[in-house]
Amino acid sequence: YPIFAQQNYANPREANGRIVCANCHLAQKAVEIEVPQAVLPDTIFEAVIELPYDKQVKQVLANGKKGDLNVGMVLILPEGFELAPPDRIPEEIKKKVGNLYYQPYSPEQKNILVVGPVPGNKYSEMVVPILSPDPAKNKNVSYLKYPIYFGGNRGRGQVYPDGKKSNNTIYNASAAGKVVTISTISGKKGGFEITIEKTNGETVVDKIPAGPDLIVKEGQILQADQPLTNNPNVGGFGQAETEVVLQNPARIQGLLVFFSFVLIAQILLVLKKKQFEKVQLAEMNF
Ligand code: HEM
Repeated sequence: YPIFAQQNYANPREANGRIVCANCHLAQKAVEIEVPQAVLPDTIFEAVIELPYDKQVKQVLANGKKGDLNVGMVLILPEGFELAPPDRIPEEIKKKVGNLYYQPYSPEQKNILVVGPVPGNKYSEMVVPILSPDPAKNKNVSYLKYPIYFGGNRGRGQVYPDGKKSNNTIYNASAAGKVVTISTISGKKGGFEITIEKTNGETVVDKIPAGPDLIVKEGQILQADQPLTNNPNVGGFGQAETEVVLQNPARIQGLLVFFSFVLIAQILLVLKKKQFEKVQLAEMNF
């Protein structure tokens, strides 16, 4: 959950560029982000993000049963950019955003937005309304090209913040030896207990929660760390980055003025040529 990231990491993007969700959401799946090439200061624009996955697929839930996947994401905007205030969002963008409530990563980091978990069936594409800063009011911002980082996830994580594995991951043999018994754990949680006898006669018990499927049998000889279960994880996390130019309107106006001068100069040259052609004609002797 994004809240796990918010509680455990002051900055969701590590120095090497990895977004921290990947520490617990171990599988990788593609994500996409689209933003305008350039935006003007103090303007609302939209970032469109996509978390594609097969909606038919079910995942293992915390209770061991199967269910739909949820999605969530973190969007790291440049300093000064933030979520558009509701009263300024145009009706047309509001409709696309729907009922999603984006939240700042922390009270100090308004340029980092999170959302989720929300149902993946409905929100595998999200629209984020963003307000660009105004360098005239905010002295820390300049008219430059800025990077935008995005991390998106579908499906449950493999590790909890306390380091325990979730039931949505692969379980391995804690020791080499022979599987002597496999018993089901009674009670509402369910799961299995696998007793492994090591070569020195000692036994170890590996507990496996309800969720992943067993792939070992009683009597089987195991290597240490050999998988006892399949990997039930069908979700995955992905990250992407893009760029946006904070554009100064004066630069565009200047460019247009320059273009008009070029245009006029070219027309004048053509007219001059036509005039000269007339002089040539008049000077011709037959
Ligand atoms: C579940 C997103 C960071 C561990 C989820 C779910 C989403 C999500 C959408 C629900 C999946 C579902 O129900 O289908 C994210 C995002 C993160 C992030 C966007 C980063 C901003 C983390 C971190 C950890 C973590 C840092 C570990 C410390 C888990 C676990 C679950 C989970 C264990 C399953 C919880 C359960 O159902 O018992 N996450 N997550 N996540 N996340 Fe994350």
